[in-house]
Amino acid sequence: MEKEPSIIIDLRSDTVTQPCGGMREAMARAEVGDDVNGDDPTVIRLQEKVASLLGMEAGLFVPSGTMSNAVAVRTHTQPGDEIIAEEHSHLYVYEGGGYAALSGCSIALVPSEHGIVAPVDVRNRIRKAEGSRSHYPNASLICIENTSNRGGGTIYPMEVLKEISEISREYDCRMHMDGARLFNAVVATGISASNMVEGFDSVSVCLSKGLGAPVGSVLVGSKNFIEQAHRWRKLFGGGMRQAGILAEAGIYALDYNLPRLAADHLRAKKLAQGIEPLEGLTVCLDEVQTNMVYVMTKGSADEWQTKLSEKGILCFAINENTLRMVTHLHINDRHIEDTLLILSELSKV
Ligand SMILES: Cc1ncc(COP(=O)(O)O)c(C=O)c1O
Repeated sequence: MEKEPSIIIDLRSDTVTQPCGGMREAMARAEVGDDVNGDDPTVIRLQEKVASLLGMEAGLFVPSGTMSNAVAVRTHTQPGDEIIAEEHSHLYVYEGGGYAALSGCSIALVPSEHGIVAPVDVRNRIRKAEGSRSHYPNASLICIENTSNRGGGTIYPMEVLKEISEISREYDCRMHMDGARLFNAVVATGISASNMVEGFDSVSVCLSKGLGAPVGSVLVGSKNFIEQAHRWRKLFGGGMRQAGILAEAGIYALDYNLPRLAADHLRAKKLAQGIEPLEGLTVCLDEVQTNMVYVMTKGSADEWQTKLSEKGILCFAINENTLRMVTHLHINDRHIEDTLLILSELSKV
């Protein structure tokens, strides 16, 4: 029988992070109320904190990034509308077609370069019902994922965001940012979160990825948008009662784990640089801008994933010839060195 590996280095995702002792203690002490009734003081504190960080009027605590995006799409659109999104975006690929099932929207997909769409391609995808003798659906929402997960954790340049935001105004479309990993972009660029989301009508940020909270996302926008989003959260079953316990974890994550994202980025870079010279593996170093490393494999990525897991290294095969490795709270320098050593051994056989 195959011997169990003695080490486990879990590079599958930053979602595998577990709450540390300090976070658990903070959660145990959290003051709670009934958030469905709007009187959980810790949830209110978290919502205000995230809204203020992002320069928005109000926030809404939701159980997941998927629900946050779904609530945003439902709030911004009407059934029969069309949303615009990048062709490999999480919202399109990994959220069960929620935009269609829950909001009755079609989607127009935009190609990209490493996850970053070109403003001209966004413009070319916009179809408005008006002036089409009712032939077209009505494009009413542009969704931008920053950082782009399938793009390799890449960051939108500010000028691209500005141009897309101008196009959205020209065509009377709303703008939503899936900022599941927005704080990675903020830490990597030094641009403030509020500057980065300027021109957006709503932003979703996740607390349970690199920030290390066990659960939760916050959707932010104008006071009016959040009032409407509150109703859709209820309809989608996302109202939570003594949610302050979870919100406290989010506050802890923002206070203690946000600044340390820079260490994840350095380790991702180190991992990518170590992989680059290895036989049978290719990385695009320019693409490694935050905490993700996408590795192109000469043979089957599934086989690489299996061989690595036999050695105690977990990662995801994203398609036939691509592995994804993500650095996070539980990955240290030693793990990167061990991973490189094992990859180097495997690349020689
Ligand atoms: C870019 C992006 N958006 C949204 C989500 C959804 O978050 P959740 O898993 O909390 O539903 C993810 C999850 O990995 C993601 O990577």
